[in-house]
Amino acid sequence: MNKTKIAVLISGNGSNLQAIIDACKDSNYPAEIGLIISNNKDAYGLERAKTSGIAYEVINHKDFSTRESFDKQMDSILTKNKIEFICLAGFMRLLSGYFVNKWKNKLINIHPSLLPAFKGVNAQKQALDYGVKVTGCTVHFVTEDMDAGPIIMQKVIEIYSTDTEKSLTQRLLEQEHKCYVEALSLVLGAKNDL
Ligand code: GRF
Repeated sequence: MNKTKIAVLISGNGSNLQAIIDACKDSNYPAEIGLIISNNKDAYGLERAKTSGIAYEVINHKDFSTRESFDKQMDSILTKNKIEFICLAGFMRLLSGYFVNKWKNKLINIHPSLLPAFKGVNAQKQALDYGVKVTGCTVHFVTEDMDAGPIIMQKVIEIYSTDTEKSLTQRLLEQEHKCYVEALSLVLGAKNDL
């Protein structure tokens, strides 16, 4: 299996990162994680990186005066590490046009709603407040517009009358982990077949 060397960008808990780490352990899975980047030194996802022995970098966006200079630093570290593909997994920074265009078709994200519904932060709360009866998650290519790139895969769940933001978030995460692992495999499998 010709594995693609990917980077995962995080800001927090990193449960989607963990799902990708676990999937990559399978010799038949088409990805290996070459680098984890966090913009937050306290992200729990960094503990996951340490536990699994994967290289990581903390790049604090506050050390940079512009969005683009932060992105250029990330780009140079990704290139230095020979990264071929990037997964955003709870990475809470908007990326510049420079970065998004440079990594076009090699940059994907997961969002906890059925896009194009409920873009932006607190998607679970937005869904509850609106009163929709189903919601889900979306893995999509990243473009300059937030939460708007071509959709790769979605998974749907029902919203129960008893759901709280916490219970919905938890049930969604279970689907997110499956969706991210399957979508990444789909995209990389298609790329390797070319
Ligand atoms: C997930 O809900 C993801 O869809 C969103 O941020 C959250 C990250 O969770 N983009 P985790 O850090 O992967 O646990």
